Amino acid sequence: MTVDGGLSRRQMLLKTAMAFNGVVGVLLAVPIVRYILSPVTKVRKPGYDSWVSLGPIDRFPPGETRLATYRHPDAQALDGETADIACWVRHTEGEHFQVFAINCAHLGCPVRWFPQSSLFMCPCHGGAYYADGSRASGPPERGLFEYRFRILDEKLQIEAGATPTPGSSPASASLVNISGSNMTKRPPCA
Ligand code: FES
Repeated sequence: MTVDGGLSRRQMLLKTAMAFNGVVGVLLAVPIVRYILSPVTKVRKPGYDSWVSLGPIDRFPPGETRLATYRHPDAQALDGETADIACWVRHTEGEHFQVFAINCAHLGCPVRWFPQSSLFMCPCHGGAYYADGSRASGPPERGLFEYRFRILDEKLQIEAGATPTPGSSPASASLVNISGSNMTKRPPCA
């Protein structure tokens, strides 16, 4: 049996099925191609590369580790206090600082600084870190994540757009401290 155009019923069904398969194939391929190309095409949010101030450097006396907070540069009005992010600032000497993410490198609980023992302690699973952020004991496989910092106009600034986390890319997790125009590569805390 033939239909208009001289195609048999079997041929017409075959062509319809092929066209349908083609459409489904394209629909399935789009997210896969987007995923593969995402490192190249990814658009960074505004504020990703922002430097924010933690305040005058004399707020952080040499030899001490103090808590500081900053407002995430991508914060929206409705974010409220959830966009206020804490970090630990360690002033070793001169213009040498370390600014640690407050989140434990294991599963992200906020760590606390105990000056009596010179340790950062995590309340969740007992992770501990030395004063320089390196791992001391417990489940974390590495040291605390650090922010890049610089000193500008006597103020301590950190690059706050990309909060360092265990899931962040190697580029943002690899730690580099900069102070003024002096850029010094630091080894990872691990
Ligand atoms: S989250 Fe800190 S030790 Fe598990």
